[in-house]
Amino acid sequence: APQVRAEVPAKLGLRDLKSLASNCTTCPWAKSSTQTVFGEGDSQARLMVVGEQPGSEEDLAGHAFIGPAGKVLADILNDLGIKREEIYITNAVKHFKWTPSDDGKARIHKKPSGGDMHACKPWLEAEIAAIRPKVIIALGVTAATSILGRLVKIGEERERNITNNALAENVIVSWHPSSILRAFNQEDRDQKIAELRSDLLRAFKLSA
Ligand code: URA
Repeated sequence: APQVRAEVPAKLGLRDLKSLASNCTTCPWAKSSTQTVFGEGDSQARLMVVGEQPGSEEDLAGHAFIGPAGKVLADILNDLGIKREEIYITNAVKHFKWTPSDDGKARIHKKPSGGDMHACKPWLEAEIAAIRPKVIIALGVTAATSILGRLVKIGEERERNITNNALAENVIVSWHPSSILRAFNQEDRDQKIAELRSDLLRAFKLSA
């Protein structure tokens, strides 16, 4: 079957994109989620941070990276003296995909499929076209795969500056903050935090 893809008019500004995206029903998760969670930040940001998809808290609040993973990211940005308002933060997929927990009380995050990424990619492309960031930092495999169009191993590529991508002059990949929350032990956690911190700093400096 042909893969579905959101239809997004060319050359729209962020405000119009956000408003159109709020009515998007391309993927099946539009129905089971609360709302579209669009990106936010400086409309002329030189650094764009791309995550996977909104989590449960983001779905309810309508803002990206405000839950537990968002706290990890916010602490690192804070530490580096980077303000959320001077960059742009978004996700590869803009609806929360979930399955009920066994007791039916919680919404368990489900990883977006290739089809979900494909369906939502026009929104991400339109955000990038509107902002034209000099550097994109993709956090985690979903964001990296969506941006680069191939399967990415973060551990193997995070120190690279990828310069052959059509979407931005520079693409950097790093750990997703959620993978830090799921780390095996404190040592693993500390190392990933240090690496994400160093990758974000490198991305920010490169964007200046
Ligand atoms: N994880 C993401 O990838 N994005 C969010 O907005 C929240 C959690």
